[in-house]
Amino acid sequence: MAADWVCSAERTVVFTGAGMSTESGIPDFRSPGGIWDRFDPAEFTFQNFMGSEEGRRRYWELGRMVYPVLRGAEPNPGHFAVAKLWQLGRLDCVITQNIDNLHQRAGLPAERVIELHGSAMRARCLDCDRPYDRAQIQDWLEAGVSVPICDPPCGGVIKPRTIMFGEAMPSEETEEAERRSRAADLFIVVGSSLVVYPAAHMPVHAKRAGARLVIVNRTATPQDAEADLLIPGSAAETLAGIAERVHHRVALS
Ligand code: APR
Ligand code: ZN
Repeated sequence: MAADWVCSAERTVVFTGAGMSTESGIPDFRSPGGIWDRFDPAEFTFQNFMGSEEGRRRYWELGRMVYPVLRGAEPNPGHFAVAKLWQLGRLDCVITQNIDNLHQRAGLPAERVIELHGSAMRARCLDCDRPYDRAQIQDWLEAGVSVPICDPPCGGVIKPRTIMFGEAMPSEETEEAERRSRAADLFIVVGSSLVVYPAAHMPVHAKRAGARLVIVNRTATPQDAEADLLIPGSAAETLAGIAERVHHRVALS
């Protein structure tokens, strides 16, 4: 049924969360064993990062462990399936909460991926705005630097381009995501617990504007009652199956 809806929709938006990337080996946040099972999210807030050198040290200690997992991950069949829908002309855009760049690496043009929570692949100096490649910072961390700072003469605080708890959302991306959600006639949520706002408002915007809502998620979400279709299965398998059927129908038409 979901494939039929993708074929007949004018503007399909796919909204992804960490469950999109667990089959690429990246743990999600709220499943048993997920990141917030092992680390206390209250420690890794924007206030703590900005508030003290110790707060930044703790953040980079975690970042140093997580970044190699992100860098080493490969797009999974779910990412390739979403890119396939784009290639078939059946996708408007992806709105993602993920910071792993896997939608882009699976072949989606960057301008079709709205990264609501930023990207772990880039960093910048908060004082002079100089950009830094996260791989370069990883080298510093692995060489023993505990709190990376901007090159002399600046010496400013370097921060990854991810949105931390308590940090303002990127206004451009948020407005664009709201616009695309309201314009969608089919909105497919994949791999998100839909508990973090304002990201979790996007399916609400879509539904209110008249879109069909599909939720592909291993576990229940607070918006399941609003969904026109619930698919409690694997993101990768479900999306690969949908893309396969859409490809078949487009080829026959
Ligand atoms: N297939 C389908 N669903 C899956 C899969 C999978 N392979 N793996 C996990 N899931 C589901 C889980 O059941 C869970 O409901 O994906 C959901 C992931 O939820 P979260 O871990 O809460 O991730 P997310 O919704 O993206 O979190 C939102 O919270 O911590 C912040 O900034 C962080 O962007 C993140 C935000
Ligand atoms: Zn600087």
